[in-house]
Amino acid sequence: MTKALFTLDAVLEATGGRAQDVEASEINSISIDSRELGPDALFVAIKGDRFDGHDFVDTALANGAVAALVSEGNGKGKGRIVVQDALGGLRDLARAARQRNRGFIVGVTGSVGKTTTKEALRTIFEAAGQTHASIKSFNNHWGVPLTLARLPESAQFGVFEMGMNAPDEIRPLSQMVRPHVAVITAVAPVHLEGLGSTEAIARAKAEIFDGLEPGGTAVLNADHQHLTQLMDAAKAAGVANIVTYGFSRGVDWQILDAQSAGEQSFATIQHAGERFAMTFAIPGRHMLSNATAALAVAHLAGVSPEEGLRALAGLRAQAGRGQRRPLGPAEKPLVLINESYNANPVAVSAALSVFADVDAPGGRKVLVLGDMLELGDQAEALHAGLNEAVRASGATRVHLVGPHMAALAAALPAALVASHFRTAEEAEDVIIADLAYGDAVMIKGSNGVGLSRIVNALVARFEHS
Ligand SMILES: Nc1ncnc2c1ncn2[C@@H]1O[C@H](COP(=O)(O)OP(=O)(O)OP(=O)(O)O)[C@@H](O)[C@H]1O
Ligand SMILES: [Mg+2]
Repeated sequence: MTKALFTLDAVLEATGGRAQDVEASEINSISIDSRELGPDALFVAIKGDRFDGHDFVDTALANGAVAALVSEGNGKGKGRIVVQDALGGLRDLARAARQRNRGFIVGVTGSVGKTTTKEALRTIFEAAGQTHASIKSFNNHWGVPLTLARLPESAQFGVFEMGMNAPDEIRPLSQMVRPHVAVITAVAPVHLEGLGSTEAIARAKAEIFDGLEPGGTAVLNADHQHLTQLMDAAKAAGVANIVTYGFSRGVDWQILDAQSAGEQSFATIQHAGERFAMTFAIPGRHMLSNATAALAVAHLAGVSPEEGLRALAGLRAQAGRGQRRPLGPAEKPLVLINESYNANPVAVSAALSVFADVDAPGGRKVLVLGDMLELGDQAEALHAGLNEAVRASGATRVHLVGPHMAALAAALPAALVASHFRTAEEAEDVIIADLAYGDAVMIKGSNGVGLSRIVNALVARFEHS
């Protein structure tokens, strides 16, 4: 039998909580969603923006949770473990899980590419041993402690995504995770609203160094304006080793001869005077960059580049991040490229350069671009600034969605702009009616714009011809 994730006693010890009629002696999973409970689940009642988990404690217990971690004042009823604050209790569990683990722990932050790099690391580490990694983009003040609290004692590798919208968010997350390696995948104008400048973004990302284990390593993407700033911050934080990667000359892991063909990317990776051939089944230079980050980190964990590359060859695009799907007749499908999960100036430019290499079976290349959110007062300029990349992508028609896209609509030749609506809901029917088998369509926008509804409608309409 495998060891329990936590015994009840260990939960009480870690959190200082008091148990009320808890029958189970073991906890084997932790959840904050009463609809998603694993075996012997501890339900943690978190207060979010929209919901308070305390309203779902009874449902969680009825659905099979063996106990619920609740904040003081919500302690009525059986099966509760009462702590001062449930989120604080979850953090205590996270620290306890980290404390006892002897594996190799990686923290990943950056303006873009966190999840892809995390998934690349998961893929490599899973081929080497027992691996635990964040699910989806669970990278915030509850996502990180939840993931860390789930870290099995026996895991040999742990990979944790850490995100932020403002200063002083990454530091406490990193100090909880205490990574052996801290990765910064990119510094780019994302979440400008909360930070103001890319210099401030770099400073906020560099907070990850404050949680690095003594003797730990910073793995830094070198292809941006703030590398020196990050290196200085790493040194100031006492980071023992710095490893760089990217397309720039002189980095420790250099990407050479990058090419994309169809759904594949190819490159030569040069490290310590040796060269390795990389094949990655996700197109785009930016994806090669994420894969190289993973290779560099895995090497620090003792995984050879050959082993790393072999494992990486099996990774595919993540949901909403460049997944391609031919819909309808095999001889002349509608090629859907789903990028509906995320958008910001660098991500859209990266996706547009991938789209430039896409051939539409029938010749028409259609773009559906939604607003890039959280860009603050630079939003208008940054939206208009996409215009050259849109033209260079070879798109023959562009549908724009969201108020900020007015700036891009004005910057593009009128003949290229097929429509502009304020919401995805309003745009949906027009876009679907405009598409046909033989088209290639790329859909990209910030998740909050809701372009995924257009993706779903398109699949429903075109999947079966
Ligand atoms: N290295 C990169 N450089 C530029 N753009 C990238 C890079 N990696 C990913 N992207 C773009 O960003 C999008 C999101 O990628 P990913 O989910 O890996 O990032 P993330 O940092 O985890 O995002 P989030 O902050 O939303 O969790 C991708 O669809 C792609 O368009
Ligand atoms: Mg993510």
